[in-house]
Amino acid sequence: MYEKMSSANEKTQKLINIIQQHARIHDIETTHKKLLKIVEDGLSNLHIICDFDCTMTRYFRSNGERNPGSHNILSASSRLTPEYKIEVKRLLDYYYPIEMNSAMTEEEKAPYMIEWWNKAHELLIGQNINKNVLKDMVAETEVAMRPGLDELIEKCKNQNVPFLVFSAGLGDVIEQVLAAKNLFHPNNMHIVSNQMGFNDETGICDHFKEPLIHVFNKSEVMIKGSPYHEIIENRSNVILMGDSVGDLQMSRGIHHDTCLTVGFLNNMIDKFLITYLKTFDIVIIGDGPTDVVNFIIDYTNNSNNFNNNNSIKHS
Ligand code: TMP
Ligand code: MG
Repeated sequence: MYEKMSSANEKTQKLINIIQQHARIHDIETTHKKLLKIVEDGLSNLHIICDFDCTMTRYFRSNGERNPGSHNILSASSRLTPEYKIEVKRLLDYYYPIEMNSAMTEEEKAPYMIEWWNKAHELLIGQNINKNVLKDMVAETEVAMRPGLDELIEKCKNQNVPFLVFSAGLGDVIEQVLAAKNLFHPNNMHIVSNQMGFNDETGICDHFKEPLIHVFNKSEVMIKGSPYHEIIENRSNVILMGDSVGDLQMSRGIHHDTCLTVGFLNNMIDKFLITYLKTFDIVIIGDGPTDVVNFIIDYTNNSNNFNNNNSIKHS
């Protein structure tokens, strides 16, 4: 018994050593405990919760420009009016600094976020978007996905690990982006995000469905009672991936024993590194790949066969 435990401990230490070559870990002891539990319980007890904008997608494109978020993918479409685009940009310039203001609490910021999302949705409704043209609108704008994500999604599909995409963006856009890149598998994947409502007769977006999801209320959005909840309710371990501190709330409405948090610190590294290290178990810096998570999945799947020669592939 002792031998078995100590060997599992050693293997987890080896896993930590490999992860540390590619990411930062502040609290090694806690991370070790979480990884040990995940590896010992195996993939049949694991599920993934993942933010979309700047987590599944990259923050920067390869040419150094900002990669668009799901709201911006839609607003970039040539089918939307110049007046709409000016107004959306005005909202972004006013509300984004409030989202990022470190002198305000999340409770103080929340009413502004609700105001922003409601105004943005009203503007979209005013554009008379037809359900049938959404796919073409999304296809107009190229979106760079995070390196390693395609492999992660494939591994989760093959090993039947549930994968929840949890986003304050636009679910209809996210679905189109993922489907176009063959990154959405309905058997093990599910999207929780803001959803456009289309008129049954005209097919035009005339409302948004409840609940409204903004950056600071992800904990309140319950998936209890949904078919996806039945899939994950007996899986006690979760890996949560996000790029913003608010993303940590994504697992709050879901019962679990262990939540291993992986944070993507994409830019302003000097300013935010200490906060991210204290907030997330594992921090991936500079818009880096998902390879650390891919490696944890492989290791959990096959921990007995791992030896000292194993390493992370791309990063
Ligand atoms: P996320 O939760 O998937 O990361 O997406 C939320 C981001 O969307 C947040 O940082 C603000 C941004 N956003 C826009 O860029 N434009 C908009 O119109 C709205 C409402 C949000
Ligand atoms: Mg994000």
